[in-house]
Amino acid sequence: MAKRFRVDWDSYLDLFHAERPGVTDHVLSLALNGHHTPYRWLARTVSARATTVLDLACGGGTLTRELERPGRTVIGIDASAAELDLARRRGPGPWVRGDALRLPFADESLDAVVSSMGMVVIQPTSRLLAEVARVLRPGGMLAFVAPTVRPVSPSDVVLGANLTRRLRTLPRFPGPLEFTDFAATLRSHGLQKIEDGRERYRVTIRSRADAEMMISALYLPATSPARTDAAIAYLEAEVRDHGKVELPIPMRRIVALK
Ligand SMILES: C[S@@+](CC[C@H](N)C(=O)[O-])C[C@H]1O[C@@H](n2cnc3c(N)ncnc32)[C@H](O)[C@@H]1O
Repeated sequence: MAKRFRVDWDSYLDLFHAERPGVTDHVLSLALNGHHTPYRWLARTVSARATTVLDLACGGGTLTRELERPGRTVIGIDASAAELDLARRRGPGPWVRGDALRLPFADESLDAVVSSMGMVVIQPTSRLLAEVARVLRPGGMLAFVAPTVRPVSPSDVVLGANLTRRLRTLPRFPGPLEFTDFAATLRSHGLQKIEDGRERYRVTIRSRADAEMMISALYLPATSPARTDAAIAYLEAEVRDHGKVELPIPMRRIVALK
């Protein structure tokens, strides 16, 4: 196993999203559980009465667009200019370039804040939650989805081990993949957890191009091109032998009220 080194996450994320805008949107739009994506799962938490909604760390804006309704303003905020350029080309916005740790919104001005992946990417969590709690109106909702460690099946574990052997690491995030005692963390910011669910999504790989896209969407700050090539070659060989590979993406959805 490669030595775990300290990652300069700010620089890594800036470069990753400048070079690969929309890659997360692309992969999560292909991630299915039945017929729905994690974006649809998250969008369902937002009340029809919510008229001002913020999509935090919106990336290319797929979730933002999923939330659009007549009479509702859905604002997408992200730190990456390249991601926002893509979002702007795809939908009306408003799109805001900014730091989720210093939200450019008035106190108690939003009905709902949602985020796909933002909670495992933006650190420190306590500062992020303090900002979210500040901008939510009383009774407003925070909901997010984030990748996590379960549910997985026994065959998922084998596939994960085979990929990890090639990459010599798991995909990494600035924040933890398993939130512990998160209800207490939310409470300390005046937020009450009302739901905590898990679903297993899967992305079907049918070609080398699919495998390249999937591996390129992972945060792998310590991994050399030779290792990512080995992982892609492994997936390609599996596709050749079995016709397809189903890559699991276990996700957790947490909903809280202010
Ligand atoms: C894994 S992507 C998720 C994008 C999108 N939510 C999705 O699920 O498709 C993480 C996003 O967080 C953004 N980001 C990272 N740090 C941020 C910060 N401090 N404030 C706002 N956005 C940030 C990145 O630019 C990137 O677009």
